[in-house]
Amino acid sequence: MKVLIINGPNLNLLGLRETDVYGTETLGDIENWLLDTVGSNEHKIDWYQSNHEGEIIDKIHMCIDNYNSIIINPGAYTHYSYAIRDAIISVQIPTVEVHLSDIKNREEFRKHSVIEDICIAQVTGHGKNGYLEAFQILLNYL
Ligand code: DQA
Repeated sequence: MKVLIINGPNLNLLGLRETDVYGTETLGDIENWLLDTVGSNEHKIDWYQSNHEGEIIDKIHMCIDNYNSIIINPGAYTHYSYAIRDAIISVQIPTVEVHLSDIKNREEFRKHSVIEDICIAQVTGHGKNGYLEAFQILLNYL
């Protein structure tokens, strides 16, 4: 497995941001936990976060020739970024969408994801375990 885990806007503030919704662990805590859980010797697992749509798109393009799978939590871009959707389609790399919170049971605008139908799976509302589930889905898929 060569997987890039991409996190979108405001996820750098995990641990501070809306802790009642997202919990008290930081993105770094979740990254370390995932690496410890799956073992980083056997697999190449890289972690990336950006608050900028274009940077996320550049990173998705960079996956061509470098990764065989993508896990993405696009943050609020989930709900409206057709540009990120197009980037995922363009690179033709199996991608799993992850959300810490249960987007289907929050505000109306969060219920729709513009990438759900082009990802091989969506994992929503399982907190940090969602990243592990996404990893296992990709492992089985590849
Ligand atoms: C999120 C859900 C999004 O609606 C929100 O904008 C985020 C985080 C999640 O992980 O639950 O920033 O993607």
